[in-house]
Amino acid sequence: MDKFLIKGPCKIKGTVNISGSKNASLPILAASILFDEMVEIKNLPNVRDIDTMLSLIKSLGFNVKQNKNSNSVVIKKSKKINTFASYSLVKTMRAGILVLGPLITKFGKAKTSLPGGCLIGARPINYHLNALKKLGMNYKIEKGYVNAFAKSKLTGSNIFFPKISVGATENAILAATLANGKTILKNCAIEPEIKNDLTNFLNQAGAKIKWIGKRTVEIKGVKSLKKISYSVMGDRIECGTFCVAATISKGNLKIKGFDPKLINTELNLLKKVGAKIKINEKLISIAGPEKIKPIKNIVTKEWPGVATDMQSQLMVLMCRANGKSIITENIFENRFLHVGELQRLGADIQVKKNKAIIRGNTKFVGAEVMSSDLRASVALVLAAIISNGKSTINRIYHLDRGYEKIEKKLTKIGVNIKRIS
Ligand code: EPZ
Repeated sequence: MDKFLIKGPCKIKGTVNISGSKNASLPILAASILFDEMVEIKNLPNVRDIDTMLSLIKSLGFNVKQNKNSNSVVIKKSKKINTFASYSLVKTMRAGILVLGPLITKFGKAKTSLPGGCLIGARPINYHLNALKKLGMNYKIEKGYVNAFAKSKLTGSNIFFPKISVGATENAILAATLANGKTILKNCAIEPEIKNDLTNFLNQAGAKIKWIGKRTVEIKGVKSLKKISYSVMGDRIECGTFCVAATISKGNLKIKGFDPKLINTELNLLKKVGAKIKINEKLISIAGPEKIKPIKNIVTKEWPGVATDMQSQLMVLMCRANGKSIITENIFENRFLHVGELQRLGADIQVKKNKAIIRGNTKFVGAEVMSSDLRASVALVLAAIISNGKSTINRIYHLDRGYEKIEKKLTKIGVNIKRIS
């Protein structure tokens, strides 16, 4: 298994280009199942989760031609489609459940593996299943699979999500796109990957999706979708991660390829700790402060709140603040796995239920640590970058799921990092 060797401390400077968004690409790739015509998707990040989703779509019988050099893929429906999404593919990437909505609305049947839990939480799909049931899907859960079928075309309905869920909102939008009649979804997740990218992608292909309230969307079903070529947005969490890297290392970084308006909450938080930030429509310039001020309480929330996917990175930042802070994790039940590893690097953090109390003024010292999930791993990289001495970060396959060429990007902006295979 690959690992990273990082020799700190490093000062971050230069320019970094943000890759395409993993979490916008995954539902858009799943949406390709809805098409009879060809779909071309560009600005696709070369990360493992995208490879897994493309393997899944190929396993359903679609022709998939990926061009890694141009970060693009062309997907075309073949004559022989099957509707079986296997455990072997879905278990490594929970977003595999996003093929359920498209399969049931397009083909009237699907056998998809339950995603299964992961380290950060149980990851249930009850909101997905209840919404699809309201549209006319019948299902039985047997031996870890959802066996779904629909006696006829799905029918539009009014659906209220009891809790805000990114994946359930995406699955319902995808299923409603080809349903008969009108669907109204209430209490939706409104992350930009959904409200901007997925909506724009489907509407440009002829869908009729209209956001009629802050968290309410109306979808008028259509018979079919047109051929489309679409470029996905930049990755919001990769951008946020590099913003924290500059702030934490007294660095000076220009970040290209992401619309700064979509990361306002986190940029305002970094300004509060002392970072100097200048933005224009596609560029963020950020200078890290000499002193990092603590933020009394950082609380993760659904967008537009502080993203849960930024929680571990912000925790490393608060370790360097000159005072005490608290981070409250409201989205996942077990998303503090990075705490133990940060303590190995010298952090003083106490966890009480979903709150982490961070002492601050940590002088990180290089050590050997272990990645546990995608975002926890990148927090260890950030800590290693500002640690005194050498760190070894094991199991970086977690990182390869969601950060494209991260060691190349970090080397280019001044980090002493090597991948050991
Ligand atoms: C998406 O996961 C993202 N993944 C996650 O990013 C992100 O952390 C999460 O949204 C929250 O923003 C992708 O977009 C591929 P949810 P998702 O449904 O859709 C509970 C990363 O690092 N819930 O909004 O699975 C759930 O357990 C990943 O890129 C139910 O109880 O998140 C969680 O506690 C990690 N029942 C909360 O809701 C359901 O049916 C939010 O989950 C669905 C969710």
